[in-house]
Amino acid sequence: MIAAQLLAYYFTELKDDQVKKIDKYLYAMRFSDETLRDIMARFRREMENGLGRDTNPTATVKMLPTFVRSIPDGSEKGDFIALDLGGSNFRILRVKVSHEKKQTVQMESQIYETPEDIIHGSGSRLFDHVAECLGDFMEKQKIKDKKLSMGFTFSFPCAHTKLDEAVLLTWTKRFKASGVEGMDVVKLLNKAIKKRGDYDADIMAVVNDTVGTMMTCGFDDQRCEVGIIIGTGTNACYMEELRHLDLVEGDEGRMCINTEWGAFGDDGTLEDIRTEFDREIDRGSLNPGKQLFEKMVSGMYMGELVRLILVKMAKEGLLFEGRITPELLTKGKIETKHVSAIEKSKEGLTKAKEILTRLGVEPSEDDCIAVQHVCAIVSFRSANLIAATLGAILTRLKDNKNTPRLRTTVGIDGSLYKMHPQYARRLHKTVRRLVPESDVRFLLSESGSGKGAAMVTAWASRLADQTRQ
Ligand code: GLC
Repeated sequence: MIAAQLLAYYFTELKDDQVKKIDKYLYAMRFSDETLRDIMARFRREMENGLGRDTNPTATVKMLPTFVRSIPDGSEKGDFIALDLGGSNFRILRVKVSHEKKQTVQMESQIYETPEDIIHGSGSRLFDHVAECLGDFMEKQKIKDKKLSMGFTFSFPCAHTKLDEAVLLTWTKRFKASGVEGMDVVKLLNKAIKKRGDYDADIMAVVNDTVGTMMTCGFDDQRCEVGIIIGTGTNACYMEELRHLDLVEGDEGRMCINTEWGAFGDDGTLEDIRTEFDREIDRGSLNPGKQLFEKMVSGMYMGELVRLILVKMAKEGLLFEGRITPELLTKGKIETKHVSAIEKSKEGLTKAKEILTRLGVEPSEDDCIAVQHVCAIVSFRSANLIAATLGAILTRLKDNKNTPRLRTTVGIDGSLYKMHPQYARRLHKTVRRLVPESDVRFLLSESGSGKGAAMVTAWASRLADQTRQ
């Protein structure tokens, strides 16, 4: 064998060896299809608990009615403002929907900062800040003298009794402003706007980001009946038959349900698959004991999960010749975007070397291969778990329609899904394996959930006009 071949051979052997070692070390994070099917069945039961009148009060997966009753039908029009708070960015958008021959949407948007002291401060300061940014946006758009209809994408669990009332049940992810839980966020925002007195706004609808995503994708594909976010947090919504919604009046038609699947496992249902790393993440979080599924899968925690694994492996002498640096020990030093970079097929190992060198651990070639594989296991676990919960929603939809084969579209958004090089492919593949009797189209929401919020607003303002007449 010539030298290059020998080297390649040696390298593959080395890689195989490393991969096998890590596979063994992290066996608890690798699931068989049988386990995934079991998780799918558990989530299906959780959904049923959340939907039932008697079981809902104690259910962990809340299955919140959203009062959104249909996906866009192409007749929406108007000039709207959309607020988007709770994802990785706080955005304000102006969305113009017009009808000349065909429906067209024009959007302009701006991103505003939400500093930590504001999202962890008092609720009134948070809403004053939102109102201030809104004022700035309207000023720039020269619409301060108009009273435009507004849609609010608020990416947290809310209880609705109608579209324009949303009581925050609990903060999740990075937010923890005081005095907001248990309150109607429409009232809080209206109060902050009134206090300023320099412009007026008519908040017509509050939607979760999953709902905004489903509506955005529904605009392009009428078959869309599921919306998923895999970003800072994770969640899904889908269209449920009204006759199955004990808690909402009426039997005809459908309503979108915000599952809040991030809370799956909060009652102990997932204890057998949670690892010591998951427990550590939870202990160090803003909301211990809550959103346990979200903490296993979403972007806010994935980098940190990898870091905790690397620390343990280094301590046991399995990585970096046992070198442990203050950087490696610092929370937040490995972010999900690093995991995405390390898993890139071509430059991944070079990225791993760069990132680990910045942490001061002087990684060898071997270490880089190992770390890349750790990342793959953690992100694969995430995609697998989401495939299982999504699989449960899909089988529910299939049963609702009473059809042997489900044909549907899932609208998806979120930084992890969009940025990670392998995530989408792995998720799609696993879903197709877990729910073979389905043809699922995965549709990426190109324009975020703002467009969808505007669609709901258009629908709500048309309804308001009709009632006024
Ligand atoms: C969290 C929120 C949920 C949101 C999701 C994605 O899970 O509780 O409402 O949809 O993050 O942003």
